[in-house]
Amino acid sequence: MNYDDMNLNRSVFGSQANRGNILSTEEAKKLLDDWVTNPKLVVHMQQVEHLMRMFAKESGYLEPDQHRWYLAGLLHDADWEKWPDTHCRKIIEELESRNIDPEIIHAIASHGPKYFGVEPETEMDKMLYAFDELSGLTHAYSLMRPEGYKGMEVKGVKKRLKDKTFAAQVSREDITDACERAGIALDELIKFVINHQIDAVSID
Ligand SMILES: [Fe+2]
Ligand SMILES: [Fe+2]
Repeated sequence: MNYDDMNLNRSVFGSQANRGNILSTEEAKKLLDDWVTNPKLVVHMQQVEHLMRMFAKESGYLEPDQHRWYLAGLLHDADWEKWPDTHCRKIIEELESRNIDPEIIHAIASHGPKYFGVEPETEMDKMLYAFDELSGLTHAYSLMRPEGYKGMEVKGVKKRLKDKTFAAQVSREDITDACERAGIALDELIKFVINHQIDAVSID
């Protein structure tokens, strides 16, 4: 993959005048319905939105902020299926055209710094980046366990992380980088993902 092609070559997203503007849950789900048909991709975004919302909640953010974290998680890969070559660009433009909160757009724009060329800055940015790949690997691991997430241990996930042939598309480098940027220990992040992803596996 040529990373240069994915570089957004921008650093400002949305407008500060739109702070606090959101999509309702219904509007966000409608957008996903229109853009995404792959059920696996839908599950991925639902898992990430759940992790984001729960992390915000447990960090003491109130409902309006929890919803913004939820939106960043739910929509971060919304354009991946229809426009894979320009992933991220389309959803950013869509949210900008709808005058959505710039912080939500920035979080989406920075969920893969080495691809999109945008540094995660806020806590929301950093946690979206941190959850993205680890969520996918943990889910792949759950699918090969007879009891899914039940009884899953941190060390089991770490073993899969070390085995580079397991869920090979998941970037281990990104996970390490994301933990460093977020200032969160890998074990703690894995534990959070296991504990919360168990509630987020069904498609609603
Ligand atoms: Fe992505
Ligand atoms: Fe993703």
